[in-house]
Amino acid sequence: MQTHKGVLIGAGGFASSWARKFLPTFRDRVEIVALADVNAEALARSADALQIPDPGRFPSYDEMLDAVDADVCFIVIPPALRPAAVRKAASRGMAVFCEKPIAASWSQALEIAEIVHETGIKFAVVQNYRLTNRILALKSVIQRTEMGAINTIQARMAVDYTIDTAGGAFRHQIPDAMIYEGAEHHLDQFRNLAGADGSWVQGVQWGQPWSTFGGNTCVALIIGMSNGAVVQFEMNHVDRGHQNGWHEEYYRVACEGGTVTIDADHVVRLTRDLGADGEVVEEVLPDTNPRDGHYAVIGRFLDWLDGGPPPETTIDDVLQTMALTFAAVDATHNGRRVEIQPLIQGLPDHLKQSPAQDADTDTTVIA
Ligand SMILES: NC(=O)c1ccc[n+]([C@@H]2O[C@H](COP(=O)([O-])OP(=O)(O)OC[C@H]3O[C@@H](n4cnc5c(N)ncnc54)[C@H](O)[C@@H]3O)[C@@H](O)[C@H]2O)c1
Repeated sequence: MQTHKGVLIGAGGFASSWARKFLPTFRDRVEIVALADVNAEALARSADALQIPDPGRFPSYDEMLDAVDADVCFIVIPPALRPAAVRKAASRGMAVFCEKPIAASWSQALEIAEIVHETGIKFAVVQNYRLTNRILALKSVIQRTEMGAINTIQARMAVDYTIDTAGGAFRHQIPDAMIYEGAEHHLDQFRNLAGADGSWVQGVQWGQPWSTFGGNTCVALIIGMSNGAVVQFEMNHVDRGHQNGWHEEYYRVACEGGTVTIDADHVVRLTRDLGADGEVVEEVLPDTNPRDGHYAVIGRFLDWLDGGPPPETTIDDVLQTMALTFAAVDATHNGRRVEIQPLIQGLPDHLKQSPAQDADTDTTVIA
């Protein structure tokens, strides 16, 4: 194992968690030598947490990347700013690990894919939701041989937020950010749970008069996956009932061999119908590994830099999540079913990747 030299772009907002919690845990594997943020106070706080002396504190990432020798760059600034930051880090030959979503539009995602392809840097996106204890437990049950194929996935993210309690208020002022910043976590999760890519998507986004957000706060999507599974997803930021907040979402995965659920109590329940004998329910408790989620994805990224296998969320994989995400945005704008794979098939050959499984079932929703 090597010790890498790393830089962090972003110091406030969620980047402060990177500075205070995530990166210090990996101190023996990556030494953070510099940090950049346009906000002086955030810069000082996070630099103090990382014990970075003054010469390593920069108000501009451009300046930092010009000045500092490092081999890995962590990017935790808002997604619309990513292409320029990735281009600059790649021009210095650095590997890049960047927070989800890779970018704020399909064209920006492709711009980053081109940079990664041209420069050959190691690049991956943080999808910490795939490696949380509760999702690993859910997936381990779905993947048992006797569970067979997945028929449907239902998912619900529902919280009682106001514009003041939601966090990251900038997201709520940007059209569609609720989908590409928020629901993107779940759209990636559906690919992860189904083991398949998106085939088509329909949906709607709307607001409610009691909301303080001023814009849309709710999204409902129906997604056909490339293996024939159909997903129903509700995202609701103004739910005054049962709460399924971040990392407490409800999932129900109906398979050939039974139905698997997880709710805010984090207990995975496998229910099997026994006909006249009723139902049998098996409960599975998630692992209690404190180093799940971000710690796990950062560990795998560093393993890759050290010669290990690539993480799941390299650029090819991420383009599939982005195609699903921006197709969902399109579907909610136009009120029509949007086919997802044509976005991937339309890419230049060097950026193309086949869907995880061929879409042999073109399931049509009949109202
Ligand atoms: N994986 C997760 O669970 C998770 C959780 C929260 C946020 N995020 C992601 O992290 C990213 C950042 O979100 P956030 O909530 O921290 O945003 P934010 O706006 O609160 O903070 C971003 C930071 O970037 C800084 N910044 C802005 N422009 C900059 C520039 N040009 N150069 C340097 N610094 C700049 C800001 O000053 C701020 O300190 C988003 O993509 C978000 O989706 C991921």
